[in-house]
Amino acid sequence: MRVLVTGGAGFIGSHIVSALRAHGHEAVVLDALLPSAHPVPPARPPEVEWIHADVRDRAAVDAALRGVDAVCHQAAMVGLGKDFADAPDYVGCNDLGTATLLAAMAGAGVRDLTLAGSMVVYGEGRYDCPAHGRVAPGPRAGADLAAGRFEPGCPVCGAELTPGLIDEDARTDPRNVYAVTKLAQEHLAASWARATGGRALSLRYHNVYGPGMPRDTPYAGVASFFRSSLARGEAPRVFEDGGQRRDFVHVRDVASANALALAFVRTREPGTLAAYNTGSGEPHTVGEMAGALAAAHGGPDPVVTGEYRLGDVRHITASSLRLRTDLGWRPEVGFAAGMAEFARSGQRAAAVP
Ligand SMILES: NC(=O)c1ccc[n+]([C@@H]2O[C@H](COP(=O)([O-])OP(=O)(O)OC[C@H]3O[C@@H](n4cnc5c(N)ncnc54)[C@H](O)[C@@H]3O)[C@@H](O)[C@H]2O)c1
Ligand SMILES: [Zn+2]
Repeated sequence: MRVLVTGGAGFIGSHIVSALRAHGHEAVVLDALLPSAHPVPPARPPEVEWIHADVRDRAAVDAALRGVDAVCHQAAMVGLGKDFADAPDYVGCNDLGTATLLAAMAGAGVRDLTLAGSMVVYGEGRYDCPAHGRVAPGPRAGADLAAGRFEPGCPVCGAELTPGLIDEDARTDPRNVYAVTKLAQEHLAASWARATGGRALSLRYHNVYGPGMPRDTPYAGVASFFRSSLARGEAPRVFEDGGQRRDFVHVRDVASANALALAFVRTREPGTLAAYNTGSGEPHTVGEMAGALAAAHGGPDPVVTGEYRLGDVRHITASSLRLRTDLGWRPEVGFAAGMAEFARSGQRAAAVP
């Protein structure tokens, strides 16, 4: 199968290209090499066809789609960004970009799509109140965070809540511009599928980490901040009290999920999009992650700072049972081994501030 991998020069995209080639597929990369993601141009694997272009460039996408059987859409601006001034760039890359790609696919008759979705579409996730059962707390108030009250309370009675595993049928509640654009990508892909008889799968990735992860920029993930601090000989700075729960999934497991998804999507009913949570199934706190990285790196130990970012959620952990059941996906890199490898592996060059 010949697959167009948008964003194929990026962290996850480049691992997907390797996984596809290992499965005997041909990958074509289309990537704008955004300076925020690539302050230094990445090495281009000689055996892979690369198109240096933006997904918003219809003519370039039309050309890239020639002879392509399926599209694996990873191109996006990621992270929380610097401030709200970034909003037009996020919406442009992620949503205008997706709409342009889908329009080109409709024109070219390419019917199979896998999309890099994200756990951020769920917002604060699933919680249970001892008195009120399942509840969905709203965004945490700045005053609570400033006072060190990090756990969201029950929206009805204020009681302490127990976080649970979210499934794909949970309501979506995007809390920042990036999250809004990731959810809009899914809605656009679902509309495209209905209108064209296309088949789409969104893999809602959890926190992806591993070799090739970009260094600390406002657009990078938390594992990358910690890894970069350690590389400078500094202690990882853990925000809040370190008790935020996440699911850290290794990039090679995410790449193998994409390879399976590209085969599976062709067997699905035309006209639909299905979403699949993609996480290791082994939730950990951010504090545990910092500790594991620091230990594998040989120190220094993390410090818990109590700082916070508005728009961050407290806990978000998902069930990836559907992905395991329907696609037979099995993540292979466990937390301890994955973090130990990441602590010693290379990261991409740091961004120009
Ligand atoms: N890293 C994570 O933890 C995580 C979690 C959930 C979802 N995702 C999603 O996975 C995908 C890949 O993310 P990543 O972590 O590899 O980030 P990345 O920044 O390393 O890769 C994204 C790539 O897309 C390219 N790109 C961005 N906008 C483009 C445009 N308009 N046209 C062409 N290319 C463009 C960038 O140049 C970059 O190479 C994204 O869609 C992201 O939203 C990532
Ligand atoms: Zn309650």
